[in-house]
Amino acid sequence: MRIGVLTGGGDCPGLNGVIRAVVRKGVEVYGHEFVGFRDGWKGPLEGISRPLEVADVRGILPRGGTILGSSRTNPLKVDGGVDRIRENLAAAGVDALVAIGGEDTLGVATALAAQGLTVVGVPKTIDNDLGATDYTFGFDTAVTIATEAIDRLHTTAESHHRVLICEVMGRHAGWIALHSGLAGGANVILIPERPFDIDEVCRYVEHRFALEYAPILVVAEGAVPKAGTLATVEGELDAFGHARLGGIGHLLEREIERRTGKEARATVLGHVQRGGSPTAYDRVLATRFGLHAIDAVHEGESGVMVALKGTDIVRVPLAEATRTLKTVPVERYAEAEVFFG
Ligand code: F6P
Repeated sequence: MRIGVLTGGGDCPGLNGVIRAVVRKGVEVYGHEFVGFRDGWKGPLEGISRPLEVADVRGILPRGGTILGSSRTNPLKVDGGVDRIRENLAAAGVDALVAIGGEDTLGVATALAAQGLTVVGVPKTIDNDLGATDYTFGFDTAVTIATEAIDRLHTTAESHHRVLICEVMGRHAGWIALHSGLAGGANVILIPERPFDIDEVCRYVEHRFALEYAPILVVAEGAVPKAGTLATVEGELDAFGHARLGGIGHLLEREIERRTGKEARATVLGHVQRGGSPTAYDRVLATRFGLHAIDAVHEGESGVMVALKGTDIVRVPLAEATRTLKTVPVERYAEAEVFFG
């Protein structure tokens, strides 16, 4: 077989580990050939590809980003997009695709599989918010980076008796904020699933100062105040209709200063969380996903995604992968609340 590989959506550490495992097992065990499509769905849409042989995937396991490039191109929003992909795959002699991505990339994969293309999905997102898999690679790396940042913020917050706010990624789900906040001993964690009460946040801040410690707040970029309590600004939309986030940390900075009189400073971690080398956990998960994805393609599967269930890698229908967003349950947030204030 000749198999196309692409990485779409926001990048994350571990993508190269998947590509390496797919190609190594595909070539060395099954004797397949590979072609790498550039920049997510833009590659098959515009027929832009690069060779992908074993030599091309040597040494990439510890490397962040993706050697194939990525984009948020949505071919379903382009007139005749699906037909163009079909033609370009046929022209490149490609029989099947391995699509590595999050809800948007896999949503396109689901639509293409439903229209007869052979597609196997691999889930990725630092947000860890895909319902059909227990974990996605990239999440552990992002949490590790955020935790290290929080550890560093603690020491400087104490020196200056300041409120330090750490804004982490997490558009719809607060997993990075919850895990890094727990691991880093944050005094308040704010997540999108639970609109916050600014008065309560300020009470936690004042209580922490009363104990003669400096408060650390961890806030997910998608966190929102309770309706009607604070005005927020909406960002511009991408091809999948998502707003560009970032800004809640600075809003909190201003409001906390105004309401408590204490100096507050926000650090926005942003894309630092998505860059650099994956943790060992993410390298192993990415590698196992890649090995199982190429098994699925070799066995003639389509419309499925590999997923982690407990410690096993299983196959689930692609449609199921994008059906539910995995958000932080109330009881998980309640565990963290014990440490607030
Ligand atoms: O979906 C992953 C993610 O990192 C989100 O946490 C974040 O909102 C978004 O991507 C940022 O996307 P971009 O890199 O396009 O700004």
